[in-house]
Amino acid sequence: MIHRENNIDLATLSTLKIGGRGHEYVTVDGYGDLQQLHREGFFDNLWHIVGGGSDSVFSDDLEDVHFLRLVEMNTPEIISKEEDYTLVRIWGGANWDNIVAWSVQNNLAGIESLAAIPGTVGAAPIHNIGAYGSEFSDVCHEVRVFDTQTGEGAALSHEACQFEYRKSIFKQAAYAEHIVVYVTLKLFHATEKRTISIPAYKDVEKFFEEKKSTPTLREIYDAITEIRWGKLPRPELLPNCGSFFKNTIVPQDQADQWIGEHPDMPHFQLDDGNVKVPTGWLIESIGMKGYQVDGSLEKDGIAVYDKHALVIVNYGGATYDDLLSLVREIQTRVQSKFNVMIHPEVCMIDRDAVSND
Ligand code: EPU
Repeated sequence: MIHRENNIDLATLSTLKIGGRGHEYVTVDGYGDLQQLHREGFFDNLWHIVGGGSDSVFSDDLEDVHFLRLVEMNTPEIISKEEDYTLVRIWGGANWDNIVAWSVQNNLAGIESLAAIPGTVGAAPIHNIGAYGSEFSDVCHEVRVFDTQTGEGAALSHEACQFEYRKSIFKQAAYAEHIVVYVTLKLFHATEKRTISIPAYKDVEKFFEEKKSTPTLREIYDAITEIRWGKLPRPELLPNCGSFFKNTIVPQDQADQWIGEHPDMPHFQLDDGNVKVPTGWLIESIGMKGYQVDGSLEKDGIAVYDKHALVIVNYGGATYDDLLSLVREIQTRVQSKFNVMIHPEVCMIDRDAVSND
């Protein structure tokens, strides 16, 4: 069923609680609703799709933009059960963590390390969400999209999605007018033959140090959840969007130079020969952990989180322009120290981003 609400406060649609007002907010609970919106000409307006709000912030000049969301329905559908794996189809509006919890309960492995990531299932392939050595792409079988220009649906195989670190075909201009409606995951059966392994991450290995037997899926899920919320602020307590910037990927010779200057710099060798450097480390090393634009020591407005420099938090009352100033200042200062541009992972939605010209 289609539900409409006028003059929406966009800050309520972002977990960083930043945004002006939008023309209307429309929610749908089925593929047929999207077809109806297409027939009505909804997609001829300036429109934008939102998910759980943990990947977006909104500017103050979107009063004529129509916002759309697939309602939350968390009922995975098993579409085939093979000897080693099960294919599960999930509605794009489902809550990601809810689905991870469901998979663990049903002894289906593959996404337990992606526990406690806020957001919707539909956003997962777009950003190729990842944590603790796993990525959405590891389990993606198929993504079904709705083309808002033609009103037609299409299915993209794993290969067609062109997954990379925090990147997929859905971020390309050709897919700007598409909506992710369903994803199909390939989750393997956790059996004695195919056991679960502890993610090869310092924090997680430390958590299981004492444990002799192989952990269960539930234990990994609980461990990741605890580790994640030990590092990152809960959005409902302190508004934030998780990692605000992507980690930084540089060629080997650049990484070697930095390691020479900073032997303690954490870094991860990638298969393609490049090196991933934590942007949190880059920001902390220029003294911006806990930084506030006005230099105020009072915790208010927008700030770099004082316990994790990759996260931007809103202590209250911050505007899109405040955020933009902070982001630009961080980018400029990182660039002048390291000669590299860092890029937001969070989508900064302004007029250019929603324009369908
Ligand atoms: N670090 C610092 N200073 C900081 C923060 C981090 O030096 O203020 C260093 C840490 O000491 C560590 C390294 O950076 O050596 C990596 O930090 P962490 O393990 O916290 O992970 P991250 O690279 O900052 C990424 C993902 C997270 C994911 C974690 C765990 C991105 C953009 N972020 O963060 O994903 O949970 O790894 O796998 O890739 C998200 O996307 O919202 C997110 C939280």
